[in-house]
Amino acid sequence: MPATEMVTPRWMRGRCALACLAATASVVAFSGGFGAAPAPTEPDAAPRFNRDVRPILSNHCYQCHGPDSAARKAGLRLDRREDALAALESGLHAIVPGDAESSAILARVTHADPEQAMPPPEIGKDLRPEQIDTLRRWIESGAEYEPHWSFVPPVRPAAPEVSAANTTWRTNPIDRFILATLEAERLEPSPRANAPRPSSAAPAST
Ligand code: HEC
Repeated sequence: MPATEMVTPRWMRGRCALACLAATASVVAFSGGFGAAPAPTEPDAAPRFNRDVRPILSNHCYQCHGPDSAARKAGLRLDRREDALAALESGLHAIVPGDAESSAILARVTHADPEQAMPPPEIGKDLRPEQIDTLRRWIESGAEYEPHWSFVPPVRPAAPEVSAANTTWRTNPIDRFILATLEAERLEPSPRANAPRPSSAAPAST
């Protein structure tokens, strides 16, 4: 087994190998810096509005159910929670927190009848099954909205606790984020590489 596979957490496998490992440090640093994204090892965690849900609604729904009142259809506004939860002219509720089955948006994005399906099929912006699943899980988990990330003050998260046995491997807080993921996946970090030896091919000084 190549060394890169041994230290590649499950969520990365199949997507990429070595490049991802290098990218991990920057991803961790970025999410750590803004405090918005949860650890990437939690694929089953409740979807987050800014990271997971807003892009779906924004790309597929806001054109007709967003901030632009002139373009708004059926009196339905999905970009503000209070509007999305309110009773519609039809008497239905677009979103019922904790109850995806009663939420009209779920009924519409899964509707077999093209007259009812949302977004309207003719605009060619159908949701993928995993996007529908994200909406379902977000509603089931309470359908919380978040302010736009640019209004959320950055919060530095505490570096995770890691096992004492690995203290020699970690040297800075970012290493601890990587090590915590490896430990969660029951993986061992590779041994530290030897310091490069001075090259014998170095050009002779003149
Ligand atoms: C191109 C415009 C357009 C887009 C994009 C669009 N819709 Fe609609 N939507 C409409 C129109 C028009 C209606 C009213 C006719 C109807 O009920 O089918 C409607 C109605 C609805 C209703 C029913 C409202 C009620 O009063 O019962 C829901 C729920 C809905 N849309 C959800 C969505 C969701 C969720 C998305 C994105 C995944 C979306 N729509 C994207 C045009 C759009």
